[in-house]
Amino acid sequence: MSKTHKQSAGAGHGKRDSFSSSLGMLAATLGSAVGLGNIWKFPSMTGSNGGATFLFVYLACTIVVGLPVMISEIMLGRTVKANAITTFKKLSPRRQPWGLVGVAGVIAAFLILCFYTEVAGWVFAYIFKGLTGTVLTTDPQVASAAFGKLISSPMQSLVWQWIVLVTISFIVTFGVSKGIEKVTTKLMPILFCLLVIVGIRSLTLPGASAGLKFLFTPDFSKITGTVILMAMGLAFFKLSIGMGTMMTYGSYFRDDQNVPMTATKVMLADLVVSLLAGIAIFPAVFAYGFDVTAGPSLLFVTIPAVFASMPFGSVFVVIFFVLAAIASTGAMLSLFEVPVAYLCEARQMSRKGAVLTTALGVTILGAPAALSNSLTANVTVFGKTFFDLFDYISSNLIMPTGGLCICLFTGWVFGREKIKKQLSNNNVLHNKAIITVFTLLVKYVTPILVGMVLLNMLNVF
Ligand code: TRP
Repeated sequence: MSKTHKQSAGAGHGKRDSFSSSLGMLAATLGSAVGLGNIWKFPSMTGSNGGATFLFVYLACTIVVGLPVMISEIMLGRTVKANAITTFKKLSPRRQPWGLVGVAGVIAAFLILCFYTEVAGWVFAYIFKGLTGTVLTTDPQVASAAFGKLISSPMQSLVWQWIVLVTISFIVTFGVSKGIEKVTTKLMPILFCLLVIVGIRSLTLPGASAGLKFLFTPDFSKITGTVILMAMGLAFFKLSIGMGTMMTYGSYFRDDQNVPMTATKVMLADLVVSLLAGIAIFPAVFAYGFDVTAGPSLLFVTIPAVFASMPFGSVFVVIFFVLAAIASTGAMLSLFEVPVAYLCEARQMSRKGAVLTTALGVTILGAPAALSNSLTANVTVFGKTFFDLFDYISSNLIMPTGGLCICLFTGWVFGREKIKKQLSNNNVLHNKAIITVFTLLVKYVTPILVGMVLLNMLNVF
């Protein structure tokens, strides 16, 4: 990921770098995908939208929509070896406005940052709360009250968001992201192990089976348009797709890299982390009688509760939130880079200026989102608080629309011949069947499905 950051700021000047090993490529792509989406958003949405039914639809969306979009993005990026906007410009016929997808991506990244930095702020805060032991309780009321106290305090909400923003700006400005990301990829396996430990503890709690049933026994009659829209939005958010981020990553892929295979691996690994988080959280939710539809607070009340019932729980809870903070920092770095790269390249700003502008923008627009549980709780737009609104616009509107455009572009403008050449690495790989299925998906299946979900959202039918 480090090379992506460094290079995207100066694309077009000199020789472009590329990931030196295929493992590095996989780790970098995974570093962007795995984040709060897995451990916070996935459990929160699964709990609020009916458990297994939602999980099933989410799985379907990841495979039928997520994977084709991700392969398309990486492939297009690798073909042109430039940022998203330039990639579209170079590949599209004159005067066709495909570059707008890249511009929409910049807006989406910005909106995501407005609420992501707040959730990351809660994670940072829980490191300290873990140290003082105030959150280590299995009593639902005490746990919810502790979380409620944090998010309903305007001062705490803002200050934690600012701490996150200063940290990220510092890392991006001084270009020390290389070191940070090395650390991130090294620490990921530890987070993974910790999730497994929490999962085992959660599964062995009395009454845990109700949680498993909730997570793995779908009721297909409960599938609604809203469930599909939410699940699809999550698939886009989880895989960091539909807004050109993966395109930028693809531009650093080597020509002999197997694109469909790498994308599939990223998708599977990301899914495993999400499932682990689900297994860590849901059995405990039922065992302790937490509210499964609690939404955003689910991670913050359940995880400490599981640790509270373990030896050395207070140590584990701190380690868990430190690792979660590092994972979310990795994801935020890749998000920050989107507007920063745009401001540097398209608006000719200095890197420092671009970072400052982005940080200032997130500080201003992020404040109403951060205050959504206190001062701005009653200010709603389309019935949503700012926090939910930014999430909704980015995940459910911009990213699916971007994904739709990316598929149509790949299938109809880029075309079958070039797809064949790119995905087979110039006839080196023998993956004809995969290419045929992929082409069919991006030309017809995926755009029609995404289009239908979007039309349904707009109440067209
Ligand atoms: N996928 C990340 C997560 O799950 C969030 C993220 C990072 C992202 N970069 C992105 C989402 C780019 C959309 C686009 O936490």
